[in-house]
Amino acid sequence: MNLKGIYTAVRQLFVKNAEIDLDNLPQHIAVIMDGNGRWAKSKGLDRSAGHAAGAETLREIADYCSEIGIKVLTAYAFSTENWKRPQKEVDALMDLLYEYLCDADNKLVGKNNVVRVIGDVTPLREDIKKQITYVEEKTKNNDGMIINLAINYGGRDEITTAARKIAEQVKNGEIQPEDIDEKMIDNNLYTAGQPWPDIILRPSGEYRLSNFLLWQAAYSEFWYADICWPDFTPKHMKLAISKYQKRNRRFGGI
Ligand code: FPP
Repeated sequence: MNLKGIYTAVRQLFVKNAEIDLDNLPQHIAVIMDGNGRWAKSKGLDRSAGHAAGAETLREIADYCSEIGIKVLTAYAFSTENWKRPQKEVDALMDLLYEYLCDADNKLVGKNNVVRVIGDVTPLREDIKKQITYVEEKTKNNDGMIINLAINYGGRDEITTAARKIAEQVKNGEIQPEDIDEKMIDNNLYTAGQPWPDIILRPSGEYRLSNFLLWQAAYSEFWYADICWPDFTPKHMKLAISKYQKRNRRFGGI
């Protein structure tokens, strides 16, 4: 066995044996579902097949997270920059999002999850917007895990939007500039009222935040994995949680 083989075998052993403390779980896990295109290419498939496989992975990971008691799962499905992709790929992603939202009745709603879309939905297709409203409305009184689907989401856009809302309040004389504090900015983000992500997870070997949860990520713990998102399984999630539980979070203190 070569070095890479040994590394893979040792890693698989860790993944298999990772134990987690269910009384000390992260509250919020955020995932950058990266590597779908590369996964598809490695199998001689179209990129959209990679995204479809990635959507299945999200279903499986969401089930696992809600079963063990995670409070919030945020999935980066489409960024404000992803419109730059070829139209065929954008269309395929929009079709998948629509299907996912239509399927939510069976796959998400029945499980007591709360489905929320974070991002600017204005430029989305009308059928998608309608389905978002339906699913959000239908799940809003559930008390299970919150699933934030980040669609046309950008961290910079989110902070800009919050600044604009607050500026409007100042303009209307409702608040004074000196009233603006971190809490107020936080309360004007899409994730208002939710805990910040404890773990941000990015598979596929990339080490970037890519405009994801810029404000909320201030003290998130990062987890990188060298596999593509469609190959990510609950066992990998378990390993990420187990490693997270061994980290010493100091939040700027000592
Ligand atoms: C990044 O990987 C992934 C995306 C831009 C889209 C993620 C979307 C899904 C997994 C499916 C749609 C989501 C839902 C909720 C149904 P990439 O395609 O850029 O991968 P690459 O870096 O290998 O090209």
